[in-house]
Amino acid sequence: MTGRARGRPSGWLALSGLTLVSILTGLAPSLPGPSTPAPWAAAPTAQHPGATPPAEDDAVVLTPAEVALALEFSPLPAPPPDPTNAVADDPAAARLGQALFFDPRLSGPGNIACASCHDPALGFADGRRLAKAVAHHPRHTQSLWNVAYNRWFFWDGRKDTLWSQALAPFEDPREHGGSRLQIVHTLAADDVLVRAYEGVFGAFPDVSDHDRFPAAGRPVPGDEAHPHALAWNRMTPEDRAAVDTVFVGVGKAIAAYERRLISRRAPFDVFVEGLREDDPAKQRALSASAQRGFALFAGKGRCLLCHDGPNFTDLEFHSNRVPTGEGVDPGRALGVLRLLDDPFNSSSVFADDGGASGRAKLALPAASWEVPGEFKTPTLRNVATTAPYMHEGQLQTLAEVIEFYSTLERAAAPGPHAETILVPAGLTAAEQADLLAFLEALTDESLPQALRRAPESPIRR
Ligand code: HEC
Ligand code: HEC
Repeated sequence: MTGRARGRPSGWLALSGLTLVSILTGLAPSLPGPSTPAPWAAAPTAQHPGATPPAEDDAVVLTPAEVALALEFSPLPAPPPDPTNAVADDPAAARLGQALFFDPRLSGPGNIACASCHDPALGFADGRRLAKAVAHHPRHTQSLWNVAYNRWFFWDGRKDTLWSQALAPFEDPREHGGSRLQIVHTLAADDVLVRAYEGVFGAFPDVSDHDRFPAAGRPVPGDEAHPHALAWNRMTPEDRAAVDTVFVGVGKAIAAYERRLISRRAPFDVFVEGLREDDPAKQRALSASAQRGFALFAGKGRCLLCHDGPNFTDLEFHSNRVPTGEGVDPGRALGVLRLLDDPFNSSSVFADDGGASGRAKLALPAASWEVPGEFKTPTLRNVATTAPYMHEGQLQTLAEVIEFYSTLERAAAPGPHAETILVPAGLTAAEQADLLAFLEALTDESLPQALRRAPESPIRR
């Protein structure tokens, strides 16, 4: 155990958190049978002594304890509401957001859209080891599958809402390389976008006076001589607020779109539904190998200690000791300082609940914030579609990831606060193949084609 307290969200994750605690303490109160051992104390297959050997035509090879665990990993419920974004589930906002997500005019050079790096054909990622748009980026592009479930954004958690996350790449010189003033002018020059915006958020400000509203500009902390900063700083506070309101609206619309990028009906989910309904046809959705892989995931492999719950992530930060390149990336330790300093964080005036939920959220996990070298645990849903892996794209394939955890031979030296829960999983070649089959059975690409490209118009008919 790490001995460190972790902030845990309420709701559905609390259930799996309970399971986790019970597994760790060996009490397993939710598991059937009077003395069911902790799953990883048991052999991961049906050869476990005491388990009834499966009949020839039996589709299920899991022990009752493993079945009970599987029921906790599916189904994935609808995403939690976002009280900081009043249009989070508004279809008109999502349609506008989808148009903006694919629109390269919102970038400095005019040729980069969110979709340039989050390509729907590449699992809403880019297939590269490290990201590249206007310039190279030191981190690997995260996939957008199931982002609606996250509480913190980026590998280091420096954003705490989906809409405020979307504002960062626009002004990042390595990504869109643009500025909020340029974005507002781009919208203002497009009647259809203005109408779409007004349909969702109300009146669009008049930004036609270029003395009051320069063509480009944004705050540039630490570089007040930057042309963007000079332009921004000479505006009145009222005009800056008008620009910020549109900029935040752009983020909230994009978030409404991203909330629809959901994967939750994979073969694993059909299998679990089959367990619940006692339906052998559905139970056959998961091969015996992938079932054994689930048992390893939850047992000997100990993956569930961090990839916990039906989105296969505890939504928090850990060091899994994946080897890093040159330079030290402090991860969460720096991310949290940037989050607290962020004028768009969830406790700001831009949050539609007046910052109430944000103040509670930002106060909660302070105790675990100072640990360097921690990164966000990614979801494993659709993970087979998003290679390469890890925050620097260090590992190329899922087989490599599994081998990494199995031996930890390539692991970086443990830091001063190393996670003692991370130990070599010691999986045999056959077990590694089973775990791979399980991870591959988490793929659901049924997202409609219409959500994978720019809409014909940003206005809902
Ligand atoms: C240059 C390529 C690039 C572009 C362009 C880009 N992103 Fe990203 N995106 C990344 C990288 C790299 C990360 C991880 C960065 C980090 O952790 O520091 C990321 C992270 C994210 C995340 C966080 C996911 C999570 O689970 O925490 C979201 C959401 C996201 N991007 C959405 C967007 C949106 C919306 C846009 C357009 C406004 C966009 N991105 C433009 C490369 C890009
Ligand atoms: C100590 C917590 C922890 C444990 C245990 C753990 N992981 Fe992870 N996992 C993480 C974190 C944190 C990351 C991201 C690390 C980074 O990029 O630096 C990650 C990344 C991954 C990724 C890459 C996903 C992506 O989108 O890049 C895969 C796949 C993965 N883990 C699978 C597993 C499997 C399989 C196991 C069990 C054998 C496991 N993990 C055990 C915390 C853990």
